Amino acid sequence: MKKISFVILAAGKSRRMMSSKSKVLHELGDKVLLDYAWDIAVQNSTSDIFFVCSPQVKQYVNKNYKKAKTVIQKNQLGTAHAVECAKKYISKNKHDVVVLFGDVPLIKNSTIKKLIKFNRKSKSIGTIVSFRSDKPFGYGRIISENQYVKSVVEESDTNYEQKKINLCNSGILICDSKYLFETIKKISNKNNQKERFLTDICKIAYNEKKPFSYINCDEIEVLGVNSHLQLTSLEEKFQNIYKNKLIKNGVHLIRPETITISHDTKIAKNVVIEPNTIIKSGVKIADSTKIFGGSYLENCKIGKKCKVGPYARIRPNTILNDYVKVGNYVEIKNSKIGKFSSIAHLSYIGDAEIGNNVNIGAGTITCNYDGTKKNRTIIKKNVFIGSNCSLIAPLKIKQNSIIGAGSVVDKDVPPNSLALERSKLVLKKRKFNKNKGK
Ligand code: UD1
Ligand code: CA
Repeated sequence: MKKISFVILAAGKSRRMMSSKSKVLHELGDKVLLDYAWDIAVQNSTSDIFFVCSPQVKQYVNKNYKKAKTVIQKNQLGTAHAVECAKKYISKNKHDVVVLFGDVPLIKNSTIKKLIKFNRKSKSIGTIVSFRSDKPFGYGRIISENQYVKSVVEESDTNYEQKKINLCNSGILICDSKYLFETIKKISNKNNQKERFLTDICKIAYNEKKPFSYINCDEIEVLGVNSHLQLTSLEEKFQNIYKNKLIKNGVHLIRPETITISHDTKIAKNVVIEPNTIIKSGVKIADSTKIFGGSYLENCKIGKKCKVGPYARIRPNTILNDYVKVGNYVEIKNSKIGKFSSIAHLSYIGDAEIGNNVNIGAGTITCNYDGTKKNRTIIKKNVFIGSNCSLIAPLKIKQNSIIGAGSVVDKDVPPNSLALERSKLVLKKRKFNKNKGK
């Protein structure tokens, strides 16, 4: 069987984005656009994965995708030229090449699987992913004949009749590697944009009696991000699709239009989420938990029947076990909280491990940072910490102990103890100055 390499195009100038950052490094659903293409490539490639990119994007790719290969495209002469940049690195022997666009994030894995399978079965030289659109403006139009592609005409080159065609090109295609690189050099820039369009390969192939096939996918899968306006509108669509899935699965989102979720948000049934909650990536919430309004959750796991918020901030690497209560203006970072424990008001808990059935009083802070490094606080089960305590880490408070309100605790506390650190209250008779009145 032929092997499959991927080429992901991500070197475009991003002119329409009006941003100093490449468009493919912007985020959708709290995930970088390019990561979507990478995930698809990783799941389907049986050979190399190449990114054709700018130096800025190369830096990102090398840092984040260990197995990826990068090629810099110095001058952006068009999508055909971009693919050609990877020519000398890709095997031409019994290989198919899939071309993905870094700015088309929502293409489904199942569509790419279908593309590969269809192309293999139909024995075409190549296949493109197409879609039907009510508003085809801006897309390349597919001129077809008997289920084959005669040519693809870019928007800027369409005539009046072609503008009415609603069969559009997604830009994503598969092609035999040898044929792709033999043919790509024949593609010129004789068009209104003076760019070498990869899509012109379809016309050459058709004339050489090796026409491309096409398979359809949903329009939402191929929506591209070329400007901030498109990014904002895609985010809105993305949010609606993903939230509707949650709602169908039994999650109660109250006024869902005010709630933000991420590409990988996992919420079990019977969970209630109040308005204005923001859920960043890596969040998992178990059955029957309630997240009160205005909470902000990032990369954390929340057990079942917990109560979180309103206005709680749960930061990365936090685990709340079942039945935990976290109240308003509480921030928790890199910590584990045991079952039935409660941190009900105005606290900061960082780098801590808290056992079962612990009560943390209002305003209590784990002082985890000593100016150079982060230190851990360990609190065992059944501990009661009064309000407004400063717990100076590294620190261990053993089971069944009580810490009196207002204490600064800088020594380990043995089990079954009362720890109290408090200066004496001074009470004196008040003196009044007669001249000034009260
Ligand atoms: C492209 C397709 C169009 C299709 C549309 C779907 C071509 C010629 N046109 O148009 O038929 O309907 O996508 O969204 O393929 N890139 C490079 N180097 C370059 C030029 C582009 O790496 O020299 C990259 C871009 O970063 C981007 C991708 O290729 O990821 C597509 O380029 P873009 O300019 O966005 O093409 P569209 O005008 O959207
Ligand atoms: Ca595009």
